[in-house]
Amino acid sequence: MTEVVNHALTLNQLIQEKSTCEIIAITSGKGGVGKTFLSINFAIYLAQLKKKILLLDADIHLGNVDLFLGLRPRYTVKDVIVGEKEIEDIIIKGPENIDIIPASDAVKDLITREKDTLRKFNQAYRRFNPDYDAIIIDTGAGISRTVLAFLLGADKIIVVVTPDPASITDAYSIMKIVTQFNPDVPLTLVTNMVRNEEEGQSLFNKMNLMTERFLQRSIYHGGSILESPIVAESVKKQIAMMLHQPNTAPMHVVRNLVRKMFRIPMPEVKRKGGLFDRIINLSDLNLGEEDE
Ligand SMILES: Nc1ncnc2c1ncn2[C@@H]1O[C@H](COP(=O)(O)OP(=O)(O)O)[C@@H](O)[C@H]1O
Ligand SMILES: [Mg+2]
Repeated sequence: MTEVVNHALTLNQLIQEKSTCEIIAITSGKGGVGKTFLSINFAIYLAQLKKKILLLDADIHLGNVDLFLGLRPRYTVKDVIVGEKEIEDIIIKGPENIDIIPASDAVKDLITREKDTLRKFNQAYRRFNPDYDAIIIDTGAGISRTVLAFLLGADKIIVVVTPDPASITDAYSIMKIVTQFNPDVPLTLVTNMVRNEEEGQSLFNKMNLMTERFLQRSIYHGGSILESPIVAESVKKQIAMMLHQPNTAPMHVVRNLVRKMFRIPMPEVKRKGGLFDRIINLSDLNLGEEDE
């Protein structure tokens, strides 16, 4: 069983730590629970700690990282695959110099079409040789083959859950399926849109009990974000909260989450290659029927 880490890293440790590129996917099963909000602010805070960050919007249906940040991408992954553009050309710059690969239907092509598509993209990515400290993946809702491929390519996974029963069921399902394929990947639960700390803690306890009992594993608690109108406001204004309202409770939670995530040891079997290499290997796995 995974040992739960209670102590967050100090800021200094985090800045000085010599890192290999960590791939962290943020997922939930259910949509509308705060994945994109969290991904963006998580990525921005890492960049503020002088980390070189790629934020990959892998939500092919409701990809909206760019929208959240008021950005307008011109090209997509498709332009790289057909050879019209280099990967550098489709990456847009976000706040604090984060690199963003915006979502499009082509992200789905990457996973589900011929391996060649993925290989082409992978070659382009290697040529680009970007040397990121971390890749943050904002996955789509659902448990499609595409979502699963990104989750199984990640080193660590953050699962966002709200007290909504549908969210609880979906978060459990996604943890179950990920555990079936990769029992060692650390899972961190963020309890979002809760009324108070107690509700967040009891939601976490309940889910941890479920995973211990039925999946024979424990999970980490990444923290609780209270339901708050300032979150909704910042999203509406297309302004990242980490930039404009950093000294708010939700942003304290995000900063703590970042430290907790980097404190969690990398899974013992450190898999070879970058994200796209891994997904190429994964396409040999039988991930089940495509459900999109
Ligand atoms: N803690 C919160 N309090 C209030 N509203 C929130 C909170 N977290 C997220 N939201 C709102 O929920 C909506 C969905 O968030 P989003 O990040 O797009 O979810 P997802 O990416 O999971 O679909 C947004 O309009 C956002 O403002
Ligand atoms: Mg989203």
